Amino acid sequence: MSARDWRIGVAGLGTVGTGLLTFLSERPHFAPAGGKARVTGVSARSRTRPRPFDISNLPWFDDPVALAQSDEVDLFVELIGGSDGPAKAAVEAALRAGKPVVTANKALIAEHGAELAALAEAHEVPLLFEAAVMGGTPAVKMVREAMVGDDLTSIAGILNGTCNFILSEMESGGRAFEDVLAEAQRLGYAEADPTMDVGGFDAAHKITILAALAFGCAPNFAAAEVEGVDQVELLDIRMAKDLGYRIKLIASAERGEQGVTVGVHPTLVPLNHPLAQAGGALNALFIEGERLGRVFLQGAGAGAAPTAAAVAADIADVMTCASRPVFQKPAGELVRFRPGDRSRNVVRAYLRLLVKDEPGVIAAVSETLAEAGVSIESFLQKPVEDAQGVPIVLTTHAVSEAVLAAAVERIAGHPAVIEQPRLMRIART
Ligand SMILES: NC(=O)c1ccc[n+]([C@@H]2O[C@H](COP(=O)([O-])OP(=O)(O)OC[C@H]3O[C@@H](n4cnc5c(N)ncnc54)[C@H](OP(=O)(O)O)[C@@H]3O)[C@@H](O)[C@H]2O)c1
Repeated sequence: MSARDWRIGVAGLGTVGTGLLTFLSERPHFAPAGGKARVTGVSARSRTRPRPFDISNLPWFDDPVALAQSDEVDLFVELIGGSDGPAKAAVEAALRAGKPVVTANKALIAEHGAELAALAEAHEVPLLFEAAVMGGTPAVKMVREAMVGDDLTSIAGILNGTCNFILSEMESGGRAFEDVLAEAQRLGYAEADPTMDVGGFDAAHKITILAALAFGCAPNFAAAEVEGVDQVELLDIRMAKDLGYRIKLIASAERGEQGVTVGVHPTLVPLNHPLAQAGGALNALFIEGERLGRVFLQGAGAGAAPTAAAVAADIADVMTCASRPVFQKPAGELVRFRPGDRSRNVVRAYLRLLVKDEPGVIAAVSETLAEAGVSIESFLQKPVEDAQGVPIVLTTHAVSEAVLAAAVERIAGHPAVIEQPRLMRIART
Protein backbone atom coordinates (compact mmCIF):
# COMPACT_ATOMS: atom_id res chain seq x y z
CA MET A 1 0.00 0.00 0.00
CA SER A 2 1.22 3.43 -0.87
CA ALA A 3 1.43 6.03 1.90
CA ARG A 4 1.24 8.98 -0.49
CA ASP A 5 -1.09 11.89 0.22
CA TRP A 6 -3.95 12.51 -2.21
CA ARG A 7 -4.98 15.98 -3.40
CA ILE A 8 -8.69 16.00 -4.09
CA GLY A 9 -10.70 18.30 -6.35
CA VAL A 10 -14.43 18.49 -5.59
CA ALA A 11 -16.77 19.79 -8.30
CA GLY A 12 -20.32 20.46 -7.08
CA LEU A 13 -20.90 21.87 -3.62
CA GLY A 14 -24.55 21.09 -3.08
CA THR A 15 -26.01 18.47 -0.73
CA VAL A 16 -23.40 15.80 -1.44
CA GLY A 17 -20.44 18.08 -2.16
CA THR A 18 -20.71 19.98 1.12
CA GLY A 19 -21.46 16.66 2.85
CA LEU A 20 -18.12 15.37 1.56
CA LEU A 21 -16.21 18.52 2.61
CA THR A 22 -17.74 18.19 6.08
CA PHE A 23 -16.82 14.49 6.23
CA LEU A 24 -13.19 15.11 5.25
CA SER A 25 -12.77 18.13 7.58
CA GLU A 26 -14.19 16.17 10.53
CA ARG A 27 -11.84 13.25 9.83
CA PRO A 28 -8.33 14.67 9.44
CA HIS A 29 -7.05 11.13 10.04
CA PHE A 30 -8.99 9.62 7.14
CA ALA A 31 -6.00 7.78 5.67
CA PRO A 32 -7.05 4.33 4.50
CA ALA A 33 -3.60 3.60 3.04
CA GLY A 34 -1.55 5.71 5.44
CA GLY A 35 -1.46 8.88 3.29
CA LYS A 36 -3.91 11.74 3.87
CA ALA A 37 -6.76 13.07 1.73
CA ARG A 38 -6.61 16.84 1.30
CA VAL A 39 -9.08 19.01 -0.67
CA THR A 40 -7.00 21.23 -2.97
CA GLY A 41 -9.70 22.72 -5.15
CA VAL A 42 -13.45 23.20 -5.38
CA SER A 43 -15.88 24.29 -8.07
CA ALA A 44 -19.56 25.18 -8.17
CA ARG A 45 -21.74 27.60 -10.10
CA SER A 46 -21.71 30.43 -7.57
CA ARG A 47 -18.67 31.29 -5.48
CA THR A 48 -20.63 33.53 -3.12
CA ARG A 49 -23.69 31.39 -2.46
CA PRO A 50 -24.03 30.67 1.30
CA ARG A 51 -23.20 27.02 2.03
CA PRO A 52 -23.26 24.84 5.13
CA PHE A 53 -19.46 24.48 4.81
CA ASP A 54 -17.03 27.43 4.73
CA ILE A 55 -15.14 27.22 1.44
CA SER A 56 -13.34 30.57 1.73
CA ASN A 57 -9.97 28.90 2.42
CA LEU A 58 -10.19 26.42 -0.44
CA PRO A 59 -8.80 27.17 -3.91
CA TRP A 60 -11.75 28.08 -6.16
CA PHE A 61 -12.24 27.13 -9.83
CA ASP A 62 -15.03 28.71 -11.90
CA ASP A 63 -14.74 25.87 -14.39
CA PRO A 64 -14.96 22.23 -13.22
CA VAL A 65 -12.96 21.15 -16.30
CA ALA A 66 -10.07 23.38 -15.20
CA LEU A 67 -10.32 21.85 -11.72
CA ALA A 68 -10.21 18.35 -13.21
CA GLN A 69 -7.08 19.29 -15.17
CA SER A 70 -5.34 21.21 -12.38
CA ASP A 71 -1.81 20.13 -11.45
CA GLU A 72 -2.89 20.50 -7.83
CA VAL A 73 -5.48 17.70 -8.13
CA ASP A 74 -4.69 13.94 -8.14
CA LEU A 75 -8.26 12.64 -7.70
CA PHE A 76 -11.36 14.27 -9.13
CA VAL A 77 -14.77 14.01 -7.42
CA GLU A 78 -17.76 14.95 -9.56
CA LEU A 79 -20.87 15.93 -7.57
CA ILE A 80 -22.58 18.28 -10.04
CA GLY A 81 -25.14 15.90 -11.55
CA GLY A 82 -26.76 15.56 -14.97
CA SER A 83 -25.98 13.11 -17.74
CA ASP A 84 -24.24 15.65 -19.95
CA GLY A 85 -22.95 19.22 -19.71
CA PRO A 86 -20.30 20.24 -17.17
CA ALA A 87 -20.38 16.94 -15.23
CA LYS A 88 -19.54 14.84 -18.30
CA ALA A 89 -17.01 17.33 -19.63
CA ALA A 90 -15.18 17.46 -16.30
CA VAL A 91 -15.18 13.67 -15.79
CA GLU A 92 -13.82 13.15 -19.30
CA ALA A 93 -11.16 15.81 -18.73
CA ALA A 94 -10.04 14.16 -15.48
CA LEU A 95 -9.88 10.69 -17.05
CA ARG A 96 -7.97 12.03 -20.06
CA ALA A 97 -5.53 13.66 -17.66
CA GLY A 98 -4.99 10.22 -16.07
CA LYS A 99 -6.79 11.01 -12.83
CA PRO A 100 -9.04 8.65 -10.88
CA VAL A 101 -12.66 9.81 -10.81
CA VAL A 102 -15.29 9.32 -8.11
CA THR A 103 -18.85 10.38 -8.90
CA ALA A 104 -22.34 10.09 -7.41
CA ASN A 105 -23.90 10.79 -10.80
CA LYS A 106 -26.28 7.96 -11.83
CA ALA A 107 -27.53 9.75 -14.94
CA LEU A 108 -23.98 10.12 -16.26
CA ILE A 109 -23.03 6.48 -15.60
CA ALA A 110 -26.33 5.00 -16.83
CA GLU A 111 -26.24 6.99 -20.07
CA HIS A 112 -22.49 7.19 -20.82
CA GLY A 113 -21.00 4.49 -18.61
CA ALA A 114 -19.51 2.36 -21.38
CA GLU A 115 -17.65 5.18 -23.13
CA LEU A 116 -16.40 6.54 -19.79
CA ALA A 117 -15.26 3.04 -18.79
CA ALA A 118 -13.29 2.82 -22.04
CA LEU A 119 -11.70 6.21 -21.34
CA ALA A 120 -10.84 5.19 -17.77
CA GLU A 121 -9.33 1.95 -19.00
CA ALA A 122 -7.33 3.65 -21.74
CA HIS A 123 -5.79 5.92 -19.12
CA GLU A 124 -5.49 3.14 -16.53
CA VAL A 125 -7.41 4.96 -13.81
CA PRO A 126 -10.44 3.93 -11.74
CA LEU A 127 -13.93 5.33 -12.30
CA LEU A 128 -16.02 4.71 -9.17
CA PHE A 129 -19.67 5.49 -8.42
CA GLU A 130 -20.83 3.79 -5.22
CA ALA A 131 -23.02 6.77 -4.25
CA ALA A 132 -24.88 6.67 -7.57
CA VAL A 133 -27.14 3.82 -6.42
CA MET A 134 -28.89 3.73 -3.01
CA GLY A 135 -26.84 6.72 -1.73
CA GLY A 136 -24.99 5.51 1.33
CA THR A 137 -26.11 1.87 1.16
CA PRO A 138 -23.41 -0.17 -0.57
CA ALA A 139 -25.33 -1.71 -3.47
CA VAL A 140 -22.65 -1.11 -6.11
CA LYS A 141 -19.84 -2.70 -4.12
CA MET A 142 -22.15 -5.57 -3.18
CA VAL A 143 -22.84 -6.38 -6.83
CA ARG A 144 -19.47 -5.42 -8.31
CA GLU A 145 -17.27 -6.97 -5.64
CA ALA A 146 -18.85 -9.01 -2.88
CA MET A 147 -21.12 -11.12 -5.09
CA VAL A 148 -18.81 -11.41 -8.07
CA GLY A 149 -18.27 -15.11 -7.30
CA ASP A 150 -21.91 -15.85 -7.99
CA ASP A 151 -23.91 -15.79 -11.21
CA LEU A 152 -26.56 -13.19 -10.54
CA THR A 153 -30.01 -13.78 -11.96
CA SER A 154 -32.16 -10.87 -10.80
CA ILE A 155 -32.23 -7.64 -8.84
CA ALA A 156 -35.36 -5.92 -7.61
CA GLY A 157 -36.02 -3.17 -5.18
CA ILE A 158 -36.96 0.33 -4.14
CA LEU A 159 -34.33 2.70 -5.50
CA ASN A 160 -35.99 6.09 -5.23
CA GLY A 161 -36.60 7.48 -1.75
CA THR A 162 -38.78 10.34 -2.99
CA CYS A 163 -41.27 7.97 -4.62
CA ASN A 164 -41.21 5.69 -1.60
CA PHE A 165 -41.91 8.65 0.68
CA ILE A 166 -44.78 9.78 -1.53
CA LEU A 167 -46.41 6.33 -1.70
CA SER A 168 -45.95 5.79 2.06
CA GLU A 169 -47.52 9.17 2.88
CA MET A 170 -50.40 8.67 0.46
CA GLU A 171 -51.23 5.41 2.23
CA SER A 172 -50.71 6.48 5.84
CA GLY A 173 -52.36 9.89 5.49
CA GLY A 174 -55.00 9.00 2.90
CA ARG A 175 -53.74 11.92 0.81
CA ALA A 176 -53.63 12.48 -2.93
CA PHE A 177 -50.39 12.33 -4.95
CA GLU A 178 -50.23 16.10 -5.67
CA ASP A 179 -50.71 16.97 -2.01
CA VAL A 180 -47.90 14.68 -0.81
CA LEU A 181 -45.59 15.75 -3.63
CA ALA A 182 -45.98 19.39 -2.54
CA GLU A 183 -45.06 18.39 1.02
CA ALA A 184 -42.07 16.35 -0.20
CA GLN A 185 -40.87 19.46 -2.06
CA ARG A 186 -41.30 21.59 1.09
CA LEU A 187 -39.28 19.05 3.12
CA GLY A 188 -36.55 18.91 0.50
CA TYR A 189 -37.23 15.24 -0.42
CA ALA A 190 -38.32 16.21 -3.92
CA GLU A 191 -36.77 18.60 -6.42
CA ALA A 192 -38.61 21.70 -7.69
CA ASP A 193 -38.84 19.79 -10.99
CA PRO A 194 -39.77 16.32 -9.73
CA THR A 195 -39.91 14.61 -13.15
CA MET A 196 -36.71 12.56 -12.75
CA ASP A 197 -37.96 11.10 -9.48
CA VAL A 198 -41.73 10.72 -9.87
CA GLY A 199 -41.47 9.76 -13.53
CA GLY A 200 -39.33 6.75 -12.54
CA PHE A 201 -36.23 7.92 -14.50
CA ASP A 202 -33.95 8.22 -11.46
CA ALA A 203 -34.76 4.64 -10.41
CA ALA A 204 -34.27 3.56 -14.05
CA HIS A 205 -30.78 5.08 -14.10
CA LYS A 206 -29.92 3.18 -10.94
CA ILE A 207 -31.28 -0.20 -12.03
CA THR A 208 -29.53 0.25 -15.40
CA ILE A 209 -26.22 0.60 -13.55
CA LEU A 210 -26.90 -2.41 -11.32
CA ALA A 211 -27.92 -4.51 -14.33
CA ALA A 212 -24.66 -3.63 -16.10
CA LEU A 213 -22.64 -4.59 -13.02
CA ALA A 214 -24.63 -7.73 -12.28
CA PHE A 215 -24.59 -9.12 -15.81
CA GLY A 216 -21.22 -7.75 -17.01
CA CYS A 217 -22.55 -5.62 -19.84
CA ALA A 218 -22.62 -2.01 -20.95
CA PRO A 219 -25.36 0.08 -19.34
CA ASN A 220 -28.35 0.20 -21.67
CA PHE A 221 -30.63 2.92 -20.32
CA ALA A 222 -32.63 3.10 -23.56
CA ALA A 223 -33.80 -0.50 -23.03
CA ALA A 224 -35.38 0.22 -19.63
CA GLU A 225 -39.18 0.33 -19.53
CA VAL A 226 -40.04 3.23 -17.25
CA GLU A 227 -43.24 4.03 -15.40
CA GLY A 228 -43.40 6.42 -12.44
CA VAL A 229 -45.67 6.99 -9.47
CA ASP A 230 -47.43 10.04 -10.93
CA GLN A 231 -50.33 7.90 -12.15
CA VAL A 232 -50.83 6.01 -8.88
CA GLU A 233 -54.15 6.98 -7.34
CA LEU A 234 -55.18 6.84 -3.72
CA LEU A 235 -58.03 4.57 -4.79
CA ASP A 236 -55.51 1.96 -6.01
CA ILE A 237 -53.51 2.21 -2.80
CA ARG A 238 -56.68 1.53 -0.79
CA MET A 239 -57.90 -1.26 -3.03
CA ALA A 240 -54.47 -2.92 -3.06
CA LYS A 241 -54.39 -2.82 0.72
CA ASP A 242 -57.80 -4.46 0.96
CA LEU A 243 -56.36 -7.26 -1.16
CA GLY A 244 -53.30 -7.60 1.11
CA TYR A 245 -50.78 -5.59 -0.90
CA ARG A 246 -48.88 -2.32 -0.77
CA ILE A 247 -47.98 -0.39 -3.93
CA LYS A 248 -44.24 0.27 -4.30
CA LEU A 249 -42.18 1.63 -7.17
CA ILE A 250 -40.10 -1.44 -7.99
CA ALA A 251 -37.03 -1.28 -10.20
CA SER A 252 -36.01 -4.67 -11.51
CA ALA A 253 -33.49 -6.35 -13.77
CA GLU A 254 -33.71 -9.97 -14.73
CA ARG A 255 -31.46 -12.19 -16.83
CA GLY A 256 -33.40 -14.60 -19.01
CA GLU A 257 -32.67 -16.82 -21.99
CA GLN A 258 -33.70 -14.09 -24.42
CA GLY A 259 -31.74 -11.29 -22.81
CA VAL A 260 -32.01 -8.88 -19.91
CA THR A 261 -35.25 -7.19 -18.95
CA VAL A 262 -34.93 -3.90 -17.07
CA GLY A 263 -37.88 -1.88 -15.86
CA VAL A 264 -39.39 0.42 -13.27
CA HIS A 265 -43.07 -0.02 -12.43
CA PRO A 266 -45.54 0.65 -9.62
CA THR A 267 -46.02 -2.89 -8.32
CA LEU A 268 -48.23 -4.59 -5.75
CA VAL A 269 -46.11 -6.18 -3.03
CA PRO A 270 -47.63 -8.47 -0.35
CA LEU A 271 -47.93 -6.55 2.92
CA ASN A 272 -45.61 -8.94 4.81
CA HIS A 273 -42.86 -8.81 2.15
CA PRO A 274 -39.63 -6.99 3.18
CA LEU A 275 -40.00 -4.54 0.28
CA ALA A 276 -43.49 -3.63 1.52
CA GLN A 277 -42.05 -2.97 4.97
CA ALA A 278 -39.49 -0.43 3.72
CA GLY A 279 -41.37 2.80 4.35
CA GLY A 280 -40.63 6.53 4.19
CA ALA A 281 -37.59 7.52 2.16
CA LEU A 282 -35.82 4.17 2.65
CA ASN A 283 -34.29 2.19 -0.20
CA ALA A 284 -34.32 -1.62 -0.24
CA LEU A 285 -33.00 -4.22 -2.66
CA PHE A 286 -33.03 -7.95 -3.29
CA ILE A 287 -30.09 -9.38 -5.21
CA GLU A 288 -30.45 -12.98 -6.31
CA GLY A 289 -27.69 -15.32 -7.39
CA GLU A 290 -27.57 -18.93 -8.49
CA ARG A 291 -25.43 -20.00 -5.53
CA LEU A 292 -26.22 -17.56 -2.77
CA GLY A 293 -29.96 -17.26 -3.29
CA ARG A 294 -31.34 -13.92 -2.16
CA VAL A 295 -29.52 -11.15 -0.34
CA PHE A 296 -31.50 -8.24 1.09
CA LEU A 297 -30.07 -4.73 1.53
CA GLN A 298 -31.91 -1.82 3.10
CA GLY A 299 -30.77 1.66 4.03
CA ALA A 300 -30.57 5.38 3.34
CA GLY A 301 -30.73 6.12 -0.38
CA ALA A 302 -29.95 9.82 -0.14
CA GLY A 303 -28.96 12.65 2.18
CA ALA A 304 -25.71 14.56 2.69
CA ALA A 305 -24.03 12.36 5.32
CA PRO A 306 -24.92 8.88 3.99
CA THR A 307 -24.12 9.80 0.39
CA ALA A 308 -20.85 11.48 1.36
CA ALA A 309 -19.91 8.29 3.25
CA ALA A 310 -20.33 6.31 0.02
CA VAL A 311 -18.21 8.85 -1.89
CA ALA A 312 -15.57 8.56 0.85
CA ALA A 313 -15.63 4.76 0.49
CA ASP A 314 -14.74 5.17 -3.20
CA ILE A 315 -12.01 7.67 -2.32
CA ALA A 316 -10.66 5.04 0.08
CA ASP A 317 -10.61 2.51 -2.79
CA VAL A 318 -8.57 4.92 -4.90
CA MET A 319 -6.19 5.61 -2.02
CA THR A 320 -5.68 1.90 -1.35
CA CYS A 321 -5.24 1.27 -5.09
CA ALA A 322 -8.17 -1.18 -5.15
CA SER A 323 -8.74 -1.92 -8.80
CA ARG A 324 -11.40 -3.63 -10.88
CA PRO A 325 -12.84 -3.17 -14.36
CA VAL A 326 -15.59 -0.55 -14.26
CA PHE A 327 -18.33 -3.00 -15.38
CA GLN A 328 -16.78 -6.39 -14.51
CA LYS A 329 -15.11 -6.89 -17.90
CA PRO A 330 -12.46 -5.01 -19.88
CA ALA A 331 -14.22 -2.09 -21.58
CA GLY A 332 -13.43 -3.46 -25.05
CA GLU A 333 -15.48 -6.57 -24.32
CA LEU A 334 -18.57 -4.73 -23.07
CA VAL A 335 -21.68 -4.98 -25.17
CA ARG A 336 -25.09 -3.60 -24.42
CA PHE A 337 -27.29 -6.36 -23.13
CA ARG A 338 -29.94 -7.71 -25.49
CA PRO A 339 -33.32 -6.58 -24.14
CA GLY A 340 -35.52 -9.52 -23.14
CA ASP A 341 -38.74 -10.13 -25.05
CA ARG A 342 -41.35 -8.47 -22.84
CA SER A 343 -44.29 -10.02 -24.65
CA ARG A 344 -43.14 -13.36 -23.20
CA ASN A 345 -43.04 -12.01 -19.65
CA VAL A 346 -45.46 -13.78 -17.41
CA VAL A 347 -46.87 -11.79 -14.55
CA ARG A 348 -49.64 -11.77 -12.02
CA ALA A 349 -51.51 -8.52 -12.30
CA TYR A 350 -53.86 -6.09 -10.58
CA LEU A 351 -56.56 -4.55 -12.75
CA ARG A 352 -58.76 -1.71 -11.56
CA LEU A 353 -61.72 -0.48 -13.52
CA LEU A 354 -64.12 2.34 -12.91
CA VAL A 355 -67.48 1.36 -14.40
CA LYS A 356 -71.02 2.67 -14.65
CA ASP A 357 -73.31 1.22 -12.01
CA GLU A 358 -75.43 -0.92 -14.35
CA PRO A 359 -76.20 -4.63 -14.67
CA GLY A 360 -74.10 -6.92 -16.84
CA VAL A 361 -70.81 -4.99 -16.62
CA ILE A 362 -69.03 -7.45 -14.36
CA ALA A 363 -70.17 -10.37 -16.52
CA ALA A 364 -68.87 -8.60 -19.65
CA VAL A 365 -65.48 -7.97 -18.05
CA SER A 366 -65.19 -11.57 -16.82
CA GLU A 367 -66.19 -12.88 -20.24
CA THR A 368 -63.62 -10.76 -22.09
CA LEU A 369 -60.87 -11.94 -19.77
CA ALA A 370 -61.94 -15.58 -20.01
CA GLU A 371 -62.03 -15.41 -23.83
CA ALA A 372 -58.50 -14.04 -23.83
CA GLY A 373 -57.32 -16.81 -21.51
CA VAL A 374 -56.83 -14.58 -18.46
CA SER A 375 -57.78 -16.36 -15.28
CA ILE A 376 -59.11 -14.27 -12.38
CA GLU A 377 -57.62 -14.98 -8.96
CA SER A 378 -59.62 -12.58 -6.79
CA PHE A 379 -62.29 -10.01 -7.28
CA LEU A 380 -63.25 -6.97 -5.22
CA GLN A 381 -66.08 -4.55 -5.73
CA LYS A 382 -66.40 -1.80 -3.24
CA PRO A 383 -68.54 1.33 -3.25
CA VAL A 384 -66.32 4.36 -2.77
CA GLU A 385 -67.99 7.62 -1.72
CA ASP A 386 -66.03 10.14 -3.77
CA ALA A 387 -65.57 7.95 -6.87
CA GLN A 388 -67.33 8.87 -10.12
CA GLY A 389 -68.49 5.29 -10.80
CA VAL A 390 -68.10 1.87 -9.21
CA PRO A 391 -64.52 0.66 -8.82
CA ILE A 392 -63.96 -3.00 -9.61
CA VAL A 393 -60.65 -4.58 -8.81
CA LEU A 394 -59.42 -7.99 -9.76
CA THR A 395 -56.14 -9.86 -9.59
CA THR A 396 -55.13 -12.42 -12.18
CA HIS A 397 -53.24 -15.67 -12.11
CA ALA A 398 -49.94 -15.68 -14.01
CA VAL A 399 -50.49 -14.61 -17.61
CA SER A 400 -48.37 -13.31 -20.48
CA GLU A 401 -48.15 -9.50 -20.49
CA ALA A 402 -49.05 -9.40 -24.17
CA VAL A 403 -52.24 -11.44 -23.66
CA LEU A 404 -53.22 -9.31 -20.70
CA ALA A 405 -52.58 -6.03 -22.51
CA ALA A 406 -54.78 -7.12 -25.43
CA ALA A 407 -57.62 -8.15 -23.09
CA VAL A 408 -57.41 -4.87 -21.18
CA GLU A 409 -57.55 -2.91 -24.41
CA ARG A 410 -60.81 -4.67 -25.28
CA ILE A 411 -62.22 -3.99 -21.82
CA ALA A 412 -61.27 -0.31 -22.12
CA GLY A 413 -63.52 -0.08 -25.19
CA HIS A 414 -66.62 -1.28 -23.33
CA PRO A 415 -69.21 1.55 -23.11
CA ALA A 416 -69.71 1.04 -19.36
CA VAL A 417 -66.00 1.51 -18.59
CA ILE A 418 -65.61 5.16 -17.52
CA GLU A 419 -61.82 5.66 -17.59
CA GLN A 420 -58.68 3.92 -18.82
CA PRO A 421 -58.26 0.70 -16.77
CA ARG A 422 -55.36 0.77 -14.31
CA LEU A 423 -53.03 -2.20 -14.65
CA MET A 424 -50.15 -3.00 -12.27
CA ARG A 425 -47.87 -5.98 -11.82
CA ILE A 426 -47.92 -8.04 -8.63
CA ALA A 427 -44.44 -8.73 -7.30
CA ARG A 428 -42.92 -12.19 -7.48
CA THR A 429 -42.41 -13.38 -3.93
N1 LIG B 1 -28.67 14.49 -2.83
C1 LIG B 1 -28.53 13.21 -2.58
O1 LIG B 1 -28.90 12.72 -1.52
C2 LIG B 1 -27.86 12.32 -3.60
C3 LIG B 1 -27.77 10.93 -3.34
C4 LIG B 1 -27.11 10.10 -4.25
C5 LIG B 1 -26.57 10.66 -5.40
N2 LIG B 1 -26.70 12.00 -5.64
C6 LIG B 1 -26.08 12.54 -6.86
O2 LIG B 1 -25.03 13.41 -6.47
C7 LIG B 1 -24.90 14.46 -7.41
C8 LIG B 1 -25.03 15.80 -6.67
O3 LIG B 1 -26.30 15.85 -6.07
P1 LIG B 1 -26.69 17.02 -5.04
O4 LIG B 1 -27.97 16.60 -4.44
O5 LIG B 1 -25.54 17.34 -4.17
O6 LIG B 1 -26.95 18.21 -6.06
P2 LIG B 1 -27.16 19.76 -5.72
O7 LIG B 1 -27.42 19.95 -4.29
O8 LIG B 1 -28.12 20.28 -6.72
O9 LIG B 1 -25.72 20.36 -6.06
C9 LIG B 1 -25.21 20.46 -7.35
C10 LIG B 1 -23.94 21.29 -7.31
O10 LIG B 1 -23.41 21.38 -8.62
C11 LIG B 1 -23.00 22.71 -8.86
N3 LIG B 1 -23.03 23.02 -10.28
C12 LIG B 1 -24.10 23.10 -11.12
N4 LIG B 1 -23.68 23.47 -12.35
C13 LIG B 1 -22.34 23.62 -12.27
C14 LIG B 1 -21.34 24.01 -13.18
N5 LIG B 1 -21.62 24.32 -14.46
N6 LIG B 1 -20.06 24.07 -12.74
C15 LIG B 1 -19.73 23.79 -11.47
N7 LIG B 1 -20.64 23.41 -10.55
C16 LIG B 1 -21.92 23.34 -10.95
C17 LIG B 1 -24.00 23.55 -8.09
O11 LIG B 1 -23.43 24.84 -7.86
P3 LIG B 1 -24.18 25.98 -6.96
O12 LIG B 1 -24.24 25.39 -5.57
O13 LIG B 1 -23.29 27.14 -7.03
O14 LIG B 1 -25.53 26.17 -7.59
C18 LIG B 1 -24.17 22.72 -6.83
O15 LIG B 1 -23.16 23.07 -5.89
C19 LIG B 1 -25.98 14.21 -8.46
O16 LIG B 1 -25.45 13.47 -9.52
C20 LIG B 1 -27.00 13.37 -7.72
O17 LIG B 1 -27.76 12.56 -8.57
C21 LIG B 1 -27.32 12.83 -4.76
